[in-house]
Amino acid sequence: MTPYYQDEYATIYHGNCDVKKADIIVVDPPDLLYDIGSYNYKVLYVFCGHYFHFYQDQLGIGKEWWWTCRHYGNGQMVKTKEPIAIFGKASPENNSPYYIPTIRQHRWERPVELMYDLIYTVKGDVLDPFMGTGSALVAAKGLNRKCVGYDIEEKYCEIAAKRLEEF
Ligand SMILES: C[S@@+](CC[C@H](N)C(=O)[O-])C[C@H]1O[C@@H](n2cnc3c(N)ncnc32)[C@H](O)[C@@H]1O
Repeated sequence: MTPYYQDEYATIYHGNCDVKKADIIVVDPPDLLYDIGSYNYKVLYVFCGHYFHFYQDQLGIGKEWWWTCRHYGNGQMVKTKEPIAIFGKASPENNSPYYIPTIRQHRWERPVELMYDLIYTVKGDVLDPFMGTGSALVAAKGLNRKCVGYDIEEKYCEIAAKRLEEF
């Protein structure tokens, strides 16, 4: 597949992810991932919603880590807790909230600071098979890590490419 965007650290592909291997894999899927067992990683982070036990059944021992999300909704600041399933040796410890930008470029845009905290304690390259706005790639590039992201929607490839270019 020809890259949609490439720089010294980051590569973006417009399409389905055909790679399943990286040191750090960050998965924020649109739906339940039935093929989660086919990924090969040192550490896997899954934005798992209510499905931690589904992923644990597929992958064995893992842990559920809750991050605090602050965002503006219904005219006021809202604080929610959201789970990430962690497989492999990684222990993010930040208990302070991460802020979602008021003007988002994607309904599920994640904070770059959160991605940074997930990535920086583990050595190696990063794969995000469902990158959306590319928050994980922006964090990885900030840490001088090689990173690859995929999205089937071109508009998100464009948004992610612009963020990486401007970083
Ligand atoms: C939950 S969002 C990810 C948001 C991202 N974490 C961020 O910070 O912006 C999931 C993304 O997966 C993309 N997607 C859906 N199916 C896909 C597929 N088969 N291959 C690649 N990307 C896909 C969607 O277009 C969407 O942007």
